[in-house]
Amino acid sequence: MKKLIILAFAAISFAACTNQPVQQNKSFMDLARQRFAVREYAQTPVEQAKLDSILEAGRLAPTAKNVQPQHIYVLQSPDAIIKINALTRCAYGAPVVFLVCYDTNQVWTKEDGTNSGDMDCSIIGTHMMMEATELGLGTCWVKWFDPAEVAAAFELPANHKPSFLMPCGYASENAKPSDHHFSRKPLSETVTYK
Ligand SMILES: Cc1cc2nc3c(=O)[nH]c(=O)nc-3n(C[C@H](O)[C@H](O)[C@H](O)COP(=O)(O)O)c2cc1C
Repeated sequence: MKKLIILAFAAISFAACTNQPVQQNKSFMDLARQRFAVREYAQTPVEQAKLDSILEAGRLAPTAKNVQPQHIYVLQSPDAIIKINALTRCAYGAPVVFLVCYDTNQVWTKEDGTNSGDMDCSIIGTHMMMEATELGLGTCWVKWFDPAEVAAAFELPANHKPSFLMPCGYASENAKPSDHHFSRKPLSETVTYK
């Protein structure tokens, strides 16, 4: 018994030191409730294994006609982080910012000229966001930037169209959900059965 208590204590201490969440096998609904837009980040670097896992979650997302038009830039060098913070006030000092783009040469395009690029990227981003949540990381979806300015600053090829930014990192101790997080319309306002 004594051995068991010592082992459990050691596991919890290790998890705390490495910023790993203690494995709780949370359900998707638990994670969906836990997630909120994080707008203050600790400067703790994000482990490569966690970045790999977040990117893999994005890779598994469905896309229109399975063309997988996404191209994701992982901004994390000091230069890139300075640059992106100068281009938007919504990078919130995160140590990593995903710049999620789609390739206009590959994206599924309808006869009327509309394409599924932003839709594909949004599903990919949602997968990434939820995986980051599972790994104990915070994120924020960001549309507050000028895609043309960002494309120019990072010298993107003309066919890589920025869809959104996603700052990612460990939430700072002060980070807390905004009032918006607690305000959701009832299903009766947003759902109609026919
Ligand atoms: C498409 C989209 C664009 C958003 N753009 C921004 C943004 O530019 N800056 C920001 O701080 N938050 C942005 N957000 C975050 C929302 O404000 C936030 O998700 C919403 O208020 C609900 O709060 P919660 O995520 O904490 O539950 C965006 C969210 C979405 C889905």
